[in-house]
Amino acid sequence: MLIANVSPRTGGKTTNSGWFAHALVEAQRDYKPVGFDADHSQQFHAWSETGDFPFEVKPAASAKFHTEHVVPAEMIGIVDCGHTENHPDITNSVLRVADLVILHMAPTKADFDRIIDPPDKTKIGDIIAMSAALRSDRTPPPTWVLLNRTVSGASSTGLYRDMMEDEGWNVLTTVIPRSEALAQSVSYPISGASKGPFGSLVTELEDRGLLK
Ligand SMILES: Nc1ncnc2c1ncn2[C@@H]1O[C@H](COP(=O)(O)OP(=O)(O)OP(=O)(O)O)[C@@H](O)[C@H]1O
Ligand SMILES: [Mg+2]
Repeated sequence: MLIANVSPRTGGKTTNSGWFAHALVEAQRDYKPVGFDADHSQQFHAWSETGDFPFEVKPAASAKFHTEHVVPAEMIGIVDCGHTENHPDITNSVLRVADLVILHMAPTKADFDRIIDPPDKTKIGDIIAMSAALRSDRTPPPTWVLLNRTVSGASSTGLYRDMMEDEGWNVLTTVIPRSEALAQSVSYPISGASKGPFGSLVTELEDRGLLK
């Protein structure tokens, strides 16, 4: 299966993609992730090398993603997409073949506005909806919001969960807390991913039947 990690702008995608993929490797089920870096920055790909990842992250910043990459049935592809605000063409291509979309956002007005009410860009929700026309099943991929950089006890987590649900989005129960360790982790090896929130994320996706 293929999981597209998206956001209109910087949203925690690369950090979460790296940790989530490691949580899959560490999970009890024998998941075999393969990464795809569909962002011109190529940070996910670079991290896989400097961080000595136990799986490959392929460079994949292409508007022909849907014709260039096939994920073997026994593997889970994790795609780190670039900003849809600036590179919608690449994400459009990924969305044609994605089985699950995770929208990464902080529970802030700044992130909320760029998702819900961008002044001169196509809303990411519309981008996902429009992908249906070019998908084999003619329906948009299942899409869930992952709140990240949350602060324990802060009202913002519940507030933005409710606001996103009011806008029609599914929001995962699992949240990724704001953490200096996560903030500093890109470029370095990852260990113990399944013990924290990323392990909970894997479990929640399993429980919801979203991991195939
Ligand atoms: N859980 C976290 N706690 C604290 N800081 C975080 C967390 N996750 C990510 N960050 C920081 O937030 C910033 C954005 O994260 P990241 O680079 O993963 O986002 P991105 O969506 O990949 O951005 P871009 O699309 O610009 O590549 C980085 O400085 C990162 O270190
Ligand atoms: Mg990134």
